[in-house]
This record gives sequence, structure tokens and C-alpha cells, in this order.
Amino acid sequence: MSTVPSTLLDQVRQHGAVPTHVAIIMDGNGRWATERGLGRPAGHHAGMASVREAVEGCLAAGVQVLTLFAFSQENWQRPPAEIDALMALLEEYIAKEANELRAQGVSVRMLGDLERLSPSAKAAVDQIEQSTAGGTNLALNVCLSYSARAELVRAMQHLGARVAAGTLAPHAITEQDVAAELYTAAWPDPDLIIRTSGEMRVSNFLLWQMAYAELHVTPVLWPDFTRETFYVALLDFLRRDRRFGRVTS
Ligand code: IPE
Ligand code: IPE
Ligand code: MG
Repeated sequence: MSTVPSTLLDQVRQHGAVPTHVAIIMDGNGRWATERGLGRPAGHHAGMASVREAVEGCLAAGVQVLTLFAFSQENWQRPPAEIDALMALLEEYIAKEANELRAQGVSVRMLGDLERLSPSAKAAVDQIEQSTAGGTNLALNVCLSYSARAELVRAMQHLGARVAAGTLAPHAITEQDVAAELYTAAWPDPDLIIRTSGEMRVSNFLLWQMAYAELHVTPVLWPDFTRETFYVALLDFLRRDRRFGRVTS
């Protein structure tokens, strides 16, 4: 009797302990478009379907928190036409996906310096955060106008204000105090960070939070990312020996 080969998702499920929090640096949209003779915005547009793949992959595998790097503070230095296209896409994504995300029990939060967004983009962000609040199947964080160093500076400013007010002693500041001032305060640190497009760098993403994250870099360009790509990353993670500085018995 022939055995049916198990799917990648079956293999993930057989393993049991999937990561609680996965973060993804969604990279390679521009190269994907250029390879096809298209403008860079076409790559960003195609990348929207990959966000759905990642969300569905998390829901199927039981990952509880998904943090996506969508737009960095440094990305504001790109040509205005590309920035406009990305911001229009953000509003299109929210208009198209908010209902489905809500129906799937996905609660969406946007993390970063949102003051730099246009009023209409900001309104769309408020709308999706409010309409999906309370979803309990998956927390979806989208890092937008985000950089890890700026996030850390902001945390230091908040702690410094408490020191100046006399409510916090400098020597009493703990790692928990710092973590509590980050955008990600509500969630555990990422267990796994995936970067697409093969780049071996972290590009100012979650620098504090990634202290003990496992890193998985795939050559797949973001618009080609599917839930199978995601499960391959989960299986890679599940084979790792996480020691956290200790020795394994
Ligand atoms: C990632 O794709 C999306 C953003 C950074 C906004 P890129 O636009 O960086 O695509 P590449 O890296 O140039 O191929
Ligand atoms: C990182 O990609 C930021 C996002 C995915 C939003 P970049 O394309 O901006 O990073 P670099 O420039 O290759 O480091
Ligand atoms: Mg890039």
C-alpha cells in the first residue's frame, strides 16, 4: 500500500511546537518587477497577495503573532512616485482586506511613526485597527514608517522623562522597562525572523526584540512568497537547537 506523502503543513503540525511569534522582512518587490520589465510599484502590488499567504499560513499552523516589515523610516528617502504608490497600496490593502481579516479573527496593529502618514492613510490605519480589534486568532503587526533605532530612541525619551519627573531611578531601569516602551510591548519577542530576497542583513528591524530570534533567509522574492515558502521556514526553525546561551543536556 502506498503512503500519501505528507504536506509541508502536516510536517509542521507533527512537530508540535510552532513559533509563537514570526516576523518577516518582506523584501524583493522591486527586483521581482524589474525581472518582468515592470515598474517597481507592480512588484509592491503583487506583494499584497503574499501578505495574505503569510496570514493564512499563520492561521493554519497556529502561529499567534505575525509582524511584517512593510515600510521603513529609511524608505521615506525613495523617489516620491514610489512612496505615493506604496501609500496608495496601503489604503487599497486596508479597503480590500479589513473585512476578511476581521472575519478570520485577525487583529491588526500598525507600528511606527504614523504621524508621517498622509491624513487619508492615517484614517485607513485607524479604521483597520478599530474594526479588527478583539480578534483572537492572530495578532498581525505591520511595521510602517518604522525603524528599530528610532523605536529605541523613543523608548529612551519616555524613560528619560520618568527619570526627570523623579518617578524612576536610573539604576532601577530594567530590561522589562525598556521592552515596555517599545511598540511591541504587548507581545513576546519574535522566535523566528524570515527575510525574503536573499539579503543577509536586518535593515534596522526589531533590533532589541531579535536578541534570541532564529533567522531564516530565503532567496524567494516577496511577491513569489507562498504559504509553502512559509512552512519551509517553519520546518527550518523547528530543526534548530535554541540554547539561549546555555548548554543542551
Ligand atoms: C520591499 O521590496 C518593499 C519595501 C521595502 C517597501 P523592495 O522595494 O525593497 O524591493 P527590492 O529590494 O528593491 O527588490
Ligand atoms: C527592508 O527592506 C525594509 C522593508 C522590507 C520594509 P529594504 O529594501 O528597505 O532594505 P535594504 O535597503 O535592502 O537594507
Ligand atoms: Mg529591498
